[in-house]
Amino acid sequence: MPNIVEFRNVGYAINGRALVENISFSIESGETVVLLGRSGSGKTTTLKLINRLLEPTSGGVFVEGKKTTNWDPIRLRRRIGYVIQEVGLFPHFTVHRNVALVPSLESWPPDKIDSRVRDMLTLVGLEPSRFAGRLPRELSGGQRQRVGVARALAADPSLLLLDEPFGGLDPVTRSEIQKEFRGLQRRLGKTMVFVTHDVREAFILGDRIGLIKDGNLIALVGVKDFHNLDHPEARAFLESYA
Ligand SMILES: Nc1ncnc2c1ncn2[C@@H]1O[C@H](COP(=O)(O)OP(=O)(O)O)[C@@H](O)[C@H]1O
Ligand SMILES: [Mg+2]
Repeated sequence: MPNIVEFRNVGYAINGRALVENISFSIESGETVVLLGRSGSGKTTTLKLINRLLEPTSGGVFVEGKKTTNWDPIRLRRRIGYVIQEVGLFPHFTVHRNVALVPSLESWPPDKIDSRVRDMLTLVGLEPSRFAGRLPRELSGGQRQRVGVARALAADPSLLLLDEPFGGLDPVTRSEIQKEFRGLQRRLGKTMVFVTHDVREAFILGDRIGLIKDGNLIALVGVKDFHNLDHPEARAFLESYA
């Protein structure tokens, strides 16, 4: 079984400026890797290299053993769930239609789509009979984020990318949704790459934490080992936690 995701000496530069430099790591099936770094450190860039929203300017990114540039980008993106802070729900689509998006594009039979949408809404704690018919503007921020997670899971992708998905939520809702998400991770056993600048969130959700600074991966270690890292950036994050 190849690694689900592997970066081999990956760089990404625009106009001669490196946003990501010489990154190498791999992710095993079923684990959650949190990419932790300050704003502007290159986290989103790294994530977009996985689903080929960006292509490396050096090195290679491999998904399920195949270079992203050898994947059909549409196929690749439909196989990878993607959750972002702005959620990106279609405002004129109901919750049901938003969650059904990829299964519909994949031409699943309507009754299979319908039962899948109901299952996914239930999974993220939204009662289908109450929420399926609503428009995104008829939901709270936390509910919209749940719909975003349901949508990303709908086509049963083996890999999920999450880019600061809970960043816009108030602290109480955020803390609740983190705990629920932790439960979801355990039940689903999906491989996840989760981006955050919040070390507390990294500790709650990560199996391993990848620390990124100025486009470089400084360390990728288990949560326990993160406390022992002897690097000023790691200490800066740990101090922010204390
Ligand atoms: N399209 C772009 N053109 C030029 N610079 C960019 C572009 N996208 C991002 N950057 C810069 O690259 C750096 C890393 O960005 P990003 O990966 O979005 O960081 P993060 O997600 O960690 O906040 C930042 O300095 C950002 O301003
Ligand atoms: Mg970002």
